[in-house]
Amino acid sequence: MLNVALPKGRLGDKVYNLFKQIGYDCRAMEDGDRKLVLRDPDGEVSYLLVKPSDVAIYVEHGAADIGVVGKDVLLEGGNDVYELLDLGFGKCRMAEAAPVDFKENKQRPLRVATKYPRIAKKYYASICREIEVIKLNGSIELAPILGLSDVIVDIVETGTTLKQNGLDVRREILPISARFIANKASMKFKEAQIRDIQQKLAAAIMEKAGEKK
Ligand code: PRP
Repeated sequence: MLNVALPKGRLGDKVYNLFKQIGYDCRAMEDGDRKLVLRDPDGEVSYLLVKPSDVAIYVEHGAADIGVVGKDVLLEGGNDVYELLDLGFGKCRMAEAAPVDFKENKQRPLRVATKYPRIAKKYYASICREIEVIKLNGSIELAPILGLSDVIVDIVETGTTLKQNGLDVRREILPISARFIANKASMKFKEAQIRDIQQKLAAAIMEKAGEKK
């Protein structure tokens, strides 16, 4: 039995469909109930539905053997897991954004609102810019509008949220996509099964990429 941590929400649906495509379907997942542990009757996999930001924590501590998580969450959490595959979907970018008319005052630290303090600190250190981090948990775009911060560091997917709140991307920080990860001990004891899934996932992604061309 393999425990698979799936992120609830839009990424989760994509991930489940991919696992289903490679033969790990689980009828309970399609019933749409509110259970958080869904077992396949054949006993091959058990899906754990967790908050996207918690996937790597479950995997790191061995509550799940494998999981799928955004590279943003992985970098921010700094979790001790194996990153086995870039799944190539859930694509977005980590960026710095500010009000359209923002003028930076380089004489003082930049006030940065973000859900990603670790990524922000590392990035600004790399460009030698002093900052003050304001850690928020959501609706980050509000911070510069209300003067709580100068800029935000956040993920941008379609750009709609920025546009609708009068913000623009100023600096690109990192490209982001979903990653297939594994617990380190599980990789010792269940390596054959996990590598098999990794290969099948890689093949399914290649096939999809081929269909798009
Ligand atoms: C994320 C992110 C942006 C938005 C970007 O927020 O923090 O606000 O999506 O997407 P877009 O470029 O397609 O508009 P999320 O939906 O996770 O909600 P949150 O504000 O609660 O973090």
